[in-house]
Amino acid sequence: MAIKSYIGALLLLLLSFPSTINAQVFQVENYSAKGGGIPDIKQSLLGAWKKACASTTRAKVFIAGGTFALSEVVLEGPCKAHVEFEIRGRLQAPADPSRFKTDGWVVFQRIDGLTVSGGGTFDGQGKIAWGQNDCDRNTNCRTLPTNLRFNFVSNAIIHNVTTLDSKNFHVNVLGAKNLTFKNFHVNAPGDSVNTDGIHIGRSLGVNILDTDIKTGDDCVSLGDGSRQITVRGVTCGPGHGISVGSLGKYDNEEPVSGVFVTNCTITGATNGARIKTWLASKIGIATDMHFQDVQMNGVANPVLIDQGYCPFNQCQAQIPSLVKISNVSFKRIRGTSSTKVAVKIACSKRIPCEGVEIADINLVYKGPDGPATSECSNVRPLISGMQNPLACAEIVKISDVSFRNIRGTSATPLAVKLVYSRGVPCQKVELADNNLRYNGRNGASTSQSANMKPTITGKSSLPICAGS
Ligand SMILES: *[C@@H]1O[C@H](CO)[C@@H](O)[C@H](O)[C@H]1NC(C)=O
Ligand SMILES: *[C@@H]1O[C@H](CO)[C@@H](O)[C@H](O)[C@H]1NC(C)=O
Ligand SMILES: *[C@@H]1O[C@H](CO)[C@@H](O)[C@H](O)[C@H]1NC(C)=O
Ligand SMILES: *[C@@H]1O[C@H](CO)[C@@H](O)[C@H](O)[C@H]1NC(C)=O
Ligand SMILES: *[C@@H]1O[C@H](CO)[C@@H](O)[C@H](O)[C@H]1NC(C)=O
Repeated sequence: MAIKSYIGALLLLLLSFPSTINAQVFQVENYSAKGGGIPDIKQSLLGAWKKACASTTRAKVFIAGGTFALSEVVLEGPCKAHVEFEIRGRLQAPADPSRFKTDGWVVFQRIDGLTVSGGGTFDGQGKIAWGQNDCDRNTNCRTLPTNLRFNFVSNAIIHNVTTLDSKNFHVNVLGAKNLTFKNFHVNAPGDSVNTDGIHIGRSLGVNILDTDIKTGDDCVSLGDGSRQITVRGVTCGPGHGISVGSLGKYDNEEPVSGVFVTNCTITGATNGARIKTWLASKIGIATDMHFQDVQMNGVANPVLIDQGYCPFNQCQAQIPSLVKISNVSFKRIRGTSSTKVAVKIACSKRIPCEGVEIADINLVYKGPDGPATSECSNVRPLISGMQNPLACAEIVKISDVSFRNIRGTSATPLAVKLVYSRGVPCQKVELADNNLRYNGRNGASTSQSANMKPTITGKSSLPICAGS
């Protein structure tokens, strides 16, 4: 008897063991639609979600292959254990925006421990909505639904699924902690309106890895309160690039800090690596943002800090931005620019950028108006490595330069040329014991200089710094 019950307990243990490894599965049933058409699985999905969410062990909601209609739905936690959402098929949102009561189509909310996977597609059917979007003219425009919302979701991974043709942003992440997108796909036409790929706000520890994004607005946009965000191995384009901001539109925005964009490829986009803050903005902070190893292919503004952001010209242009940008680096950015100004760092007149580092830039522009250039204002960046174009040439500070014991003959009359920027006059230039002769018919050697006052020691045969 004792042995029997012991074996019974063992059997029970063995039988129950697999369910702690393999999640219990709740399949979304394929209800046939009333009066034909594609069935709407909303009720079945909510039922499966409720059971999975109540499971005390890992559970899975499963949607098989096929095409299903789904009206707006909130998949709400908290759940008792980790929940998987596996979708093989294609979900279609109602195409008509007036069928939505809220601004989200599929909303995951207040869940700790979530996996979304399965190779399936969330099809927002956005074409009709893009045509109705009048937010560029109408400040009270109706907010169109986002395909996927993650509201207050933590410890989550979203991989191997596609979001297609969203009516508005494809993905909005709010209040997340430790959430990762991997092998994620965003797909919409380049002319679709306001279809940001992944937007993140007020979240800590979000990773976007090995993801491809083709869309009509920012591929990734980081709003206020984005902290410790990693974007790695992302391909972007068409789209508006990988952007921090726009910041400073609202009161009480939280700081942005810790943004690491590495090993990304941006193709045919209007921007590459961008930080943007509104003109006439509220107070804000954005710091510790690093863009490294980014390949640009025909990007219009490959490297851009824009503190004069004002689409549709609805701001008071004379009031500068009050968002403080600091500790930013752009390193190993290479490829091609489709416009002449390949590097533009336009910081706030009121609060200049601090701690901006630009290293190893090689951006080629081929056009009738000459090679690539840069434009900078209200910034004194630290420049190193290759610089094509020379970043902020007009405002780079050069100091502690010496020329000593330079002797011999010059092949042209102009033996010394020291022309420095008017904005940042050269400091500490020392000339000592130089002797350069010119033996041509145009007379003796000469020098030319501007915006500098050298220290001259030793003997010198040169007429130093006439014109300084
Ligand atoms: C769902 O049901 C409809 C109607 O019965 C059917 O046409 C369709 O093939 C089914 N889809 C799947 C994935 O089973
Ligand atoms: C994506 O999901 C599909 C369907 O479940 C699967 O066959 C495929 O192996 C998955 N791919 C990856 C990269 O996980
Ligand atoms: C982050 O979330 C993932 C997915 O749930 C989990 O595997 C991982 O352990 C979490 N990391 C931390 C530091 O909690
Ligand atoms: C960079 O990203 C590409 C995909 O865009 C990937 O194939 C490659 O392995 C990544 N390299 C490194 C060093 O992470
Ligand atoms: C910027 O970096 C410097 C040097 O590493 C550091 O001292 C400073 O605190 C940083 N600023 C911010 C706002 O994080």
